[in-house]
Amino acid sequence: MITIDESRGVFLLSTNSTSYAFRLVEGAIPAHIHWGRRLGAATALAIPDSSRRSFSVQSPVRGGLVDLNACPVEYGYAGSGDFRTPAWEATDAEGYPILEAWYEGHSVSQGKPELDGLPSVRPAAGGEAETLEIVLRDAPSGLAIHLYYTVFPAFDVITRSAVFVNSGKAPIVLSRAASLCVDLPNIGFDMVSLYGAWGREAHISRHPVTFGAHSIGSRRGTSSHHANPFLALAEPSANEHHGEVRAAALVYSGNFLAQVERSSDDQVRLLLGINPDTFSWLLAPGERFATPEALLVYSDCGFNGMSQRFHAIMRERLMRSRFRDQPRPILVNNWEATHFSFTHESLLPIVDAAAGMGIELFVLDDGWFGARDDDRTSLGDWSENLRKLPRGVEGLAAEVARRRLRFGLWFEPEMVSPDSELFRAHPDWCLHIPGREKPIGRNQLVLDFSRPEVCEEIVRRVCAVLDSAPIAYVKWDMNRYLTHVASPSLPPERRGETAHRYVLGLYRVMEEITSRHPDILFAGCSGGGGRFDAGILSYMPQIWGSDNTDAVDRLRIQYGLSLVYPISAIEAHVTAVPNHQVGRVTPFATRGAVAMSGNFGFELDLTQLGEEERRMATEFIVFYKEHRELIQYGVFWRLESPFDGSGSKVAWMFTDKRAERALLFSFEILNVANRQPRFLPLAGLGPDTLYRIEGAEEEFTGAELMSRGLCLPVPKGDFTSFYCVLGAVGRTGKA
Ligand code: DGJ
Repeated sequence: MITIDESRGVFLLSTNSTSYAFRLVEGAIPAHIHWGRRLGAATALAIPDSSRRSFSVQSPVRGGLVDLNACPVEYGYAGSGDFRTPAWEATDAEGYPILEAWYEGHSVSQGKPELDGLPSVRPAAGGEAETLEIVLRDAPSGLAIHLYYTVFPAFDVITRSAVFVNSGKAPIVLSRAASLCVDLPNIGFDMVSLYGAWGREAHISRHPVTFGAHSIGSRRGTSSHHANPFLALAEPSANEHHGEVRAAALVYSGNFLAQVERSSDDQVRLLLGINPDTFSWLLAPGERFATPEALLVYSDCGFNGMSQRFHAIMRERLMRSRFRDQPRPILVNNWEATHFSFTHESLLPIVDAAAGMGIELFVLDDGWFGARDDDRTSLGDWSENLRKLPRGVEGLAAEVARRRLRFGLWFEPEMVSPDSELFRAHPDWCLHIPGREKPIGRNQLVLDFSRPEVCEEIVRRVCAVLDSAPIAYVKWDMNRYLTHVASPSLPPERRGETAHRYVLGLYRVMEEITSRHPDILFAGCSGGGGRFDAGILSYMPQIWGSDNTDAVDRLRIQYGLSLVYPISAIEAHVTAVPNHQVGRVTPFATRGAVAMSGNFGFELDLTQLGEEERRMATEFIVFYKEHRELIQYGVFWRLESPFDGSGSKVAWMFTDKRAERALLFSFEILNVANRQPRFLPLAGLGPDTLYRIEGAEEEFTGAELMSRGLCLPVPKGDFTSFYCVLGAVGRTGKA
């Protein structure tokens, strides 16, 4: 709901339980007043008057004077008295900075406009969202900035983005264009973000916001393993279940910056958007530039409340795939089983074993094309290797279908090997700077997706394979970061656009391929979770969580990813031990429980399983099929964090929307001698509902389970797991 008090210039945006408000200062500058609990009306929303402070700079604004540095602005600009990091920066044709853009008008519309060439949340038909557009303008240069705020009341989410339009007569250069800027009074926030590296993605970082600027971001061309485009400001006492959290996630897969800046005036500015370090954009007269979209969530019930809101909007309104609401298939992928050495014949026993166990999809990973027997060759040559697959992809897919499994195939469309037919034909199609030696990563180069002809050829090649065989699933991998990002195909004054144009090209390619093949389930991957972001999820409703498949490490990775991303999106596989990445030996039961906590599959040679393991794997499959809707589409609750205390205890659970069924997983990494049984408080249950654990006799009330907790079995050994299903069997008579 959007309420506007025209006389006072106050804009109040409310979802079912949150509000966001700002007002115009001097009729010119939108200034932030509230982001938090729902307000009935925007009544006493005053901006502090700081105009008489010593050493402050007073900027003339439409007849008044404003200390911009103290003003909590909605979209800050530099050079006129606000000395904090600005949201946007631009220069005119003379090289002068454009110093301001003031309110010109606003409008409210039903629904939500599309963002040019960028993925974004889409409302369902029927008026579930409303958009406020604020137009700011700098009259001398003709630069207009359109700020968009879309309110999704039922999701408790507000989205923000900005569109820059050059309505003047001379070119303008944008060097910074954030998606979100919000100035909050400092109430002593903690900054919460996700950091990592290959094999260690999405670890939670939490620290107090001290004076100065604290940022995370990427300059690697992708959102990266190292930081995730998400940031939360939490009150220090906030935990999974209680406390205030304000958070934003960016729907973008390239270089980003998420920054919190605490000024000496004790204001906190949150910025999120494209990383300005690797960005510039020339706006010719009449042209427009759209920033990616930021999703804003406020929760007064801790991090679980925050995550549940992100999960719902991403699952129900961001993902475009028709699979977004469908039970996702249990798959077996051959990568850790065979790496590059396989043939049609050698794969069939794995497919046979998978069929016998009830697995639904077989995925052929890297190595099926060109002359690829290792990672030094053939990326870009997307036609089957007939030595390994004498009957082609189609012949293998047919054999898989005969065994009643669907067939999936791996691609790495953005890459080219120097040793490939594609590179020999088009040596200039990779990112490069003429005359300079090209950095190499995993023996490969990145195709210049800022060039439309490169994108078109890749769409053609990938679609030719997809059209040639019954392919039900595609794993879209991406195995190196971008370097020499300055496309020779662009004029010199536009070379700084390459990084963002690459992402726009990628989105065009993904849009084209996924919309031409709506019946294929697409899965993202970038050496595991190197591009696990809301931009990719828009096209591909699931992503490989990490190349690290060790059950213990996966607890941390999956826990961290769940802060922002829905469980249906997080692919998790049971693999062999000693684990390929860390050498750890964990029990098969625990590997199963960790993988079943996500979008479940296997990645090992199923023919090598012992009898007991095969029996357990088959049990997992039966169990997962029975409960996958609860796991993939239920409400997710984190209970015990691997990032707290010794990190040895981890627990999470799923409830259905009516809290009639729940599924609990708990893990204990290292055992302790002489242990008492312990109680784990659960969450999300009906307090007056009576629950019974499947397979047990005893009944518990929801209130009891949520306050005293469920008594867990004492672990016998390290790396143990426990899971159980709770079903409602009645209600307690209230006293
Ligand atoms: C990296 C991926 O994350 C792996 O799962 C696998 O597909 C390899 N690439 C194949 O090269």
